[in-house]
Amino acid sequence: MITDYCERLIVQEVAPRDGLQIEPKWVETADKIALIDQLSLAGFSRIEAGSFVSPKAIPALRDGDEVFRGIQRQPGVIYVALIPNLKGAQRALDAGADELNLVMSASQTHNLANMRMRREQSLSGFGDVVALARGTSLSLNGTVATTFGCPFEGVIDEDSVLHIVDAYLELGMQGITLADTTGMANPRQVYRLVQRVLTRVAPAQLTLHFHNTRGLGLSNVLAAYEAGARRFDASLGGLGGCPFAPGASGNICTEDLVNMCEEMGIQTGIDLPHLLQMSRSLPALLGHEMPGQVAKAGRNSDLHPAPENLLF
Ligand code: COA
Ligand code: ZN
Repeated sequence: MITDYCERLIVQEVAPRDGLQIEPKWVETADKIALIDQLSLAGFSRIEAGSFVSPKAIPALRDGDEVFRGIQRQPGVIYVALIPNLKGAQRALDAGADELNLVMSASQTHNLANMRMRREQSLSGFGDVVALARGTSLSLNGTVATTFGCPFEGVIDEDSVLHIVDAYLELGMQGITLADTTGMANPRQVYRLVQRVLTRVAPAQLTLHFHNTRGLGLSNVLAAYEAGARRFDASLGGLGGCPFAPGASGNICTEDLVNMCEEMGIQTGIDLPHLLQMSRSLPALLGHEMPGQVAKAGRNSDLHPAPENLLF
């Protein structure tokens, strides 16, 4: 049963990062900046605006420096940069990111495929990132990728996830993200793990990052919400995916999530009509249809004229 509808849900928009990183078509820097600037006006408090990773690994986001320098920052919006290592952290700091999102996988195999490092190497590099951030205004968030399952290893032991969460907390991260990289999570599993993690971190520190690869994205949101989570990543249009995880597909779709929240009376502070308008412009930008549903179906309140000649 859904217990507490009235508590606000925070949506972090990740289309400029998770969304664009897997797109085969090059998106011009100016178009990326325009996308982020529009998102900044839609009511988000947090936007993951890009990543500072190897340009060979993710060519689509190789212009992160210019993007961060070019965006029009809105007061109250935190602009987050994903980073894998110290070099990325330095680039993000120089480009003016507000928060670094440090990423490693619970799965050793996926960490090797995605980061070309063992988990221990990722963690020890993050020690240097923490040292760099000390004395700056940067906040730090640690993401555990493949938390709920790995496309190479299958089931991930919950204790190994908690071990990374503890390591992140010891390093001094203010936020933790549990990421379901290829949509392998199910609601029961999500509920249980979120409850366990919330014995270590406050709800305001925890983000859930779901992909809708197997159609369970919004079910997992509700399970996490029930367990006390209040912050979620989502991507405009349902774009997204990790190029180093076979079978990866889009994040949960922001406008579908916001629509669900509105219908349920859960506040997000996000302007849904603005979001729908933006989402409907994505096929022209990217050259394909979006997986999101509400942009196609319309909102419940978008009524149709009744057919003529009805027999009453
Ligand atoms: N930004 C830009 N360039 C970077 C970089 C960064 N954060 N980190 C490393 N590089 C460069 C190095 O300078 C070096 O350049 P050179 O060949 O011109 O000398 C080159 O990349 C190789 O460096 P190395 O440290 O050996 O990296 P690697 O090839 O072993 O790759 C990562 C390691 C982590 C940099 C790479 O795997 C990566 O960027 N992964 C992220 C993937 C991702 O974003 N996945 C989706 C999001 S989770
Ligand atoms: Zn993702």
